[in-house]
Amino acid sequence: MDRNADAPWSKFDPEVYVDNNYRTPLEVDLLIVRLMRDWFSRCFTGATPGTARGIDVGAGANLYPALSMLPWCEKVLLLEYARPNVEYLERQVASGGYDTAWDAFWNELRHAPAYAAAEPRSRFGEIVRVERGNLFDLENGSRRWDLGTMFFVADSMSECPDEFHRGVRCFMNALGEGAPFATAFMKESVGYRVGDHDYPAYRVNEDQVRESLEPFTGELEIHDLHHMVRPGHEGMILALGRRNAVVAAP
Ligand SMILES: C[S@@+](CC[C@H](N)C(=O)[O-])C[C@H]1O[C@@H](n2cnc3c(N)ncnc32)[C@H](O)[C@@H]1O
Repeated sequence: MDRNADAPWSKFDPEVYVDNNYRTPLEVDLLIVRLMRDWFSRCFTGATPGTARGIDVGAGANLYPALSMLPWCEKVLLLEYARPNVEYLERQVASGGYDTAWDAFWNELRHAPAYAAAEPRSRFGEIVRVERGNLFDLENGSRRWDLGTMFFVADSMSECPDEFHRGVRCFMNALGEGAPFATAFMKESVGYRVGDHDYPAYRVNEDQVRESLEPFTGELEIHDLHHMVRPGHEGMILALGRRNAVVAAP
């Protein structure tokens, strides 16, 4: 059984990954972006925009979770383990702005008022920072954020059930009490290929996602999206919620 440390993360090709998944936006991703936009807009009703600290865990080569957090944040951290992805993200943050591939996702976001007021390219460059790090190091809860996303990571980095649960726990331990979050999982994934390399997955369904998140959440809504992206999985699961009262890590 492939553990997280066994996978060829140093060979991960972000451009191929973007070609495979995001260069031509899929309706399911645009739907996820709209659901996330509306959830965060509800959570931050009455709050002063631009004051939260956000984190996207295992950001990889996907900017739409960070773009979804943009209006609410004074800072957004992209935490990522694979060096090629860290370099990809650093290029997106550098002056000149992110690739035009991400404009389609902003076009969904900008229909909500808080997003319409933002100039995403310059703001992204100003407030987003990239850090190479391991999600498992978030477990002790010594670093916490006000808003968080984790997309296709806990289920898409290992075949081991204990590492799936640990991944979810680490994300939750990085969120402060009441923090809104969005997290997504490939449903029943048997693994995925990027270029010439295979990456592991732990098969989850809606019940397993709910069970893993419920201990950490006050509000939780789960969207079981029956869209196939490629053979080898059965759709996507999006969970939107808020972190419940933070209990000290064991
Ligand atoms: C399927 S990709 C998802 C990328 C991106 N979040 C997305 O939505 O497309 C899985 C990501 O998890 C990252 N990853 C794997 N193990 C990790 C770890 N221990 N800590 C942090 N990130 C990790 C990988 O490098 C990769 O970027």
